[in-house]
Amino acid sequence: MKICMIGTGYVGLVSGVCFSDLGNTVYCVDNDKTKIKRLNSGIIPIYEPGLEEIVKRNYNKKRLIFTSDLKEAIKNTKIIFICVGTPTKKNSNKADLKYVFQVTNQLKKYINNYKIIVTKSTVPVTTGDKIEKILSKLKTKKLIDVVSNPEFLREGEAIRDFLYPDRVVVGSNSKKANKLMKSLYLPIIKKESRYLNTSRRAAEMIKYASNAFLATKISYINEIANLCEKVSVDIKDISIGIGLDQRIGERFLRAGPAYGGSCFPKDTRAIVDTADKFKTNLSIIKNVINSNEKRKISLLKRVHEIIGKNIKGKKICFLGVTFKPNTDDMREASSLKMIPYLSKKGAVVRYHDPSGEKEFFKNKKNVFFKKNITSACEKSDLIIIHTEWNDYKQLNFKKLVKKNNFKVYDLRNLYSPTKMLRLNIKYYSIGR
Ligand SMILES: NC(=O)c1ccc[n+]([C@@H]2O[C@H](COP(=O)([O-])OP(=O)(O)OC[C@H]3O[C@@H](n4cnc5c(N)ncnc54)[C@H](O)[C@@H]3O)[C@@H](O)[C@H]2O)c1
Repeated sequence: MKICMIGTGYVGLVSGVCFSDLGNTVYCVDNDKTKIKRLNSGIIPIYEPGLEEIVKRNYNKKRLIFTSDLKEAIKNTKIIFICVGTPTKKNSNKADLKYVFQVTNQLKKYINNYKIIVTKSTVPVTTGDKIEKILSKLKTKKLIDVVSNPEFLREGEAIRDFLYPDRVVVGSNSKKANKLMKSLYLPIIKKESRYLNTSRRAAEMIKYASNAFLATKISYINEIANLCEKVSVDIKDISIGIGLDQRIGERFLRAGPAYGGSCFPKDTRAIVDTADKFKTNLSIIKNVINSNEKRKISLLKRVHEIIGKNIKGKKICFLGVTFKPNTDDMREASSLKMIPYLSKKGAVVRYHDPSGEKEFFKNKKNVFFKKNITSACEKSDLIIIHTEWNDYKQLNFKKLVKKNNFKVYDLRNLYSPTKMLRLNIKYYSIGR
């Protein structure tokens, strides 16, 4: 099949590349010309394990085309995926749909035969109706079907998630569109039950309801961890103990920092905003958002408890700054709040991250990127393990820090408190 992905970011690039690997011809379109130029020279704009190899393979087979020429891409393809960003609108909880509607208005100019327009971007319920309304003015004859096909991949695991999803959700009442979508996904859907055809509005809602539920699970275990700290119980035991109940499930029950990333924060806000619009109070999700915000503050309070009120001149090392491992994505990572706060209080912050230096910290006072773990840790007063990259799982802190009385604050519970005690290292973690 010939398909077009509009927006070549984390979702558009990964899904486009995977679709091409399944034998389709895929036009990956982006209005960021530098990104397209770089992709055409073999430079992958994001850090995603395994992606480069698949890009190369399909690019060489000419099944993968990177372009900014939307008109040409539309002319040559039948299924058009909208994969642009839907961030939170400034000073509100609303999803900003300006990129989605920009694309829709461009499509209006170029479509002149039957196409399926698919929103893969996460969009609030009824957005598909609005897109359809804009595009219905195309011609008297029906030239389009607007379908919702939310994406559930996780950064860092994106290729596996895309190729082996728990489910593929396709929201459309059009038999024709559904048939084409199903045949596109056929190599991916192993069992019939994995392909879920719903109404378009239901598909839009499924995505938000899923993300809000996962965010709730994280906030829930984070709050239980707070109680564990007070009563000397290990949160890991609690996570296992409750997760073994199949009605609950063990995933997303690992206590840690506030949830971040490009999806949960903005999607929880957006579903609350949608519900407000329809005069429905999503009080649970509102509390989750609140609890997550509070967590960012409570982690900083804990840092003070560990190294004192006055942190001027203290050397603090961050191991990892991205919101999770195996991605370079910094969107709404806890470090974005923690590091500026600590530097403002006079601490000297050094950080390491396998995905490289971060633009955001470049002009922050006393914040330094270190290319290797040794130079980041050396002579630190406090080491904060922020992201659970594999690189940080087996460190010899004494050898790295080369100083007495340093402390380790492990936000990911990567180390055993008993072992650290045996090593005489002052070790603090989450919920134990
Ligand atoms: N990142 C994830 O893990 C993830 C997972 C599931 C769903 N989603 C959803 O997918 C959508 C995209 O997310 P992302 O993380 O890939 O965003 P992103 O910011 O990484 O990528 C968006 C891309 O769209 C391009 N773009 C913007 N306007 C355009 C236009 N008019 N024409 C062509 N290109 C345009 C941008 O240049 C950018 O490259 C969002 O709605 C997000 O919520 C993301």
